[in-house]
Amino acid sequence: MKIAILPGDGIGTEIIAEAVKVLKALDLKFEMETADVGGTAYAASGHPLPEATLNLAKASDAVLFGAVGDYKYDNLERALRPEQAILGLRKELGLFANFRPAICYEQLTHASSLKPELVAGLDILIIRELTGDIYFGQPRGRRTAVDGHFPGSEEAFDTMRYSRPEIERIAHVAFQAAQKRNKKVLSVDKANVLETFQFWRDVVTEVHKDYPDVELEHMYVDNAAMQLVKAPKNIDVLVTGNMFGDILSDEAAMLTGSIGMLPSASLNAKKQGLYEPSHGSAPDIAGKGIANPLATILSAAMMLRYSLDQAEAANRIEAAVKKVLASGLRTSDIYSEGTQKVGTVEMGNAVVAA
Ligand code: NAI
Ligand code: MG
Repeated sequence: MKIAILPGDGIGTEIIAEAVKVLKALDLKFEMETADVGGTAYAASGHPLPEATLNLAKASDAVLFGAVGDYKYDNLERALRPEQAILGLRKELGLFANFRPAICYEQLTHASSLKPELVAGLDILIIRELTGDIYFGQPRGRRTAVDGHFPGSEEAFDTMRYSRPEIERIAHVAFQAAQKRNKKVLSVDKANVLETFQFWRDVVTEVHKDYPDVELEHMYVDNAAMQLVKAPKNIDVLVTGNMFGDILSDEAAMLTGSIGMLPSASLNAKKQGLYEPSHGSAPDIAGKGIANPLATILSAAMMLRYSLDQAEAANRIEAAVKKVLASGLRTSDIYSEGTQKVGTVEMGNAVVAA
């Protein structure tokens, strides 16, 4: 097994160092190789995703990614910006399934935007399709309208599209993920209004026939947005398209408190994956040793579970994180009165010890 380690910019290097420490403490046999990405790579070689970094990622079973971006690169042309590295990796590796768990840890229920009783024990897995939908559908553009309410005026348009294979593969991913959890899938669409999402509902229903042990429910996206804040604990695995997934995953993130706690994974058909915290490079706190490394450490756990077939090791990491939180250690983003404030390195060390 080979893991590409891409720390990137800002707090990326600080949080990745802690995740690597945790991985090493597991005493499993894998090779880790580090490469530059993002602004760091641009500064060294003139490109945010150098050939060597891309080749390393392709040749690895998984990529553990820190974060990229820095305000000092804001004036660069788009193709050379640090953020292009993550888009390039997604495209080149064919990553189509984005996993965003929203877990509310018992000790952090106070950080949620909802009442503690609504989120205590919350554990949702949102699976967002990443390659299709209105974000990439052609045609798109601007033109002079020939019909509609204002013929002759300037207009813009995008196209919502999903192909059968795109829906089938994300549905399989969702049902298989549910089999490893509570065997419930909620498929979110807008089948009442959009043909694309009536098709989505039809195809998901067909794929469901392969998974009789999993319960499938369909829901319109407007209702799903309400249910996420009304009774989020009724949801187990939520699967949806690219745009609805973008919005609902951010909504779900707020139920859990800090962005410093949220891991993510993006997988391709070969179960090769890119694992990263949901947050960015946090230039405002970079170099201060105070960033929360837990989102990255939990991303490493997801990597062990989904790409490296080491579910037990993943469970060990997640249990260690819970233990550390229960012992009262907090980085400043999750600090509250009566707990003990620690820095990035101390938090990583505590997880290793646990
Ligand atoms: P951000 O997620 O980096 O920071 C937002 C806020 O959350 C900041 O106040 C930051 O200090 C805090 N924060 C983030 N992670 C934290 C952690 N682990 N511990 C404690 N506090 C944490 O988002 P922002 O400020 O919008 O973007 C900063 C840079 O990151 C930009 O260049 C942006 O393009 C890039 N970015 C990169 C991503 C990636 O690499 N996948 C994703 C999102 C943003
Ligand atoms: Mg978003």
